[in-house]
Amino acid sequence: MRFAIFFLFLDLVLAGNLRMEFAPGEVWPDTEGRPIQAHSAGILKHKGTWYWYGEDKTLGNFNRTGISVYSSKDLYNWKREAVALKKEDVPELFQDKGVCERAKVLYNRRTKKFVMWMHLDARNYAEASAGVAVSDTPTGPFRFVGHRRPVQYDFGYPEIDRTDQRTKGGTFRDMNLFLDDDGRAYVFYASEDNWTMYVVRLNAEFTGPEEPAVLGKTWARILVRQMREAPAPFKHAGRYYLITSGCTGWNPNRAGYAVAGSILGPWEDKGDPSVGPEAGTTFRSQSTFVLAAPGKRKGSFIFLADRWNPKQLADSRYVWLPFYIGKDGRVELKWRDRWDLSVFGKKLK
Ligand code: GAL
Repeated sequence: MRFAIFFLFLDLVLAGNLRMEFAPGEVWPDTEGRPIQAHSAGILKHKGTWYWYGEDKTLGNFNRTGISVYSSKDLYNWKREAVALKKEDVPELFQDKGVCERAKVLYNRRTKKFVMWMHLDARNYAEASAGVAVSDTPTGPFRFVGHRRPVQYDFGYPEIDRTDQRTKGGTFRDMNLFLDDDGRAYVFYASEDNWTMYVVRLNAEFTGPEEPAVLGKTWARILVRQMREAPAPFKHAGRYYLITSGCTGWNPNRAGYAVAGSILGPWEDKGDPSVGPEAGTTFRSQSTFVLAAPGKRKGSFIFLADRWNPKQLADSRYVWLPFYIGKDGRVELKWRDRWDLSVFGKKLK
């Protein structure tokens, strides 16, 4: 009898969409029971609620829908709120068969606006530009402000360059935003046609780079000529961390991470954070974000990644894994079939 009641409860939990754990790589339904469509996730916590932004790939690859937003109070159960930035709201070149990827959102306390940055591109990925949109509310609608390549710097332009960096500035592709404790914000992005990562401080409104851009003062070239992308920056114990992937399109590869005492560098390469089976492909996924685990010991984080399904991008899965940074400052990612936030209470290492 007791067992029967237990299984009935379990059934309810499952059927009623009430989730109490993470199941990396499995279908993750929203509170309506539909698979969450928010790939290349970026998370913003605002007034006790988490907002998850990402690419809605229901209709397949490219920008056929826009950037969706979901909300949650517990990180397990997500309610679909809206398409925060509709595909129609970006210039035509980036709609439908164009690219609108890796959107991330920060809240600007001074302007009281939510600011979204994203990678906008033509279908052939030669436009490689940063898009910015703003909103008064976290769920949008976001109003498109404009697009550009944030930094123009002569890094030794290649002779043949389909992205025309000599006249248009360094390319802008995989990206992330980072808000520092002092209220200053930064954008990390794969530039120089993905050869080198840039970290660029934003202006007071977070709507563009701080100007004038001065190398080493307002921005820096990091992970130089290393061909890294999918940057996931975070900070712990006064040090900056950056997890990245290699550049192999939708196919997974080995992750790497770097650490710095100052956000503009120097950044020290720390190698692959993943351990155990399938570490070499980051557990068949690609980094997108690192989130501080709520209410847990300092050093408790969640690694968010995408397990892309190139044959059916809408069915790409989410891989969320917990990690804890101890005294040695090392990041170690381990696979787990299922887990919940209580893992942080135990010795997680
Ligand atoms: C990856 C990138 C993704 C997407 C994909 C397209 O390298 O991280 O965001 O752009 O390429 O092939």
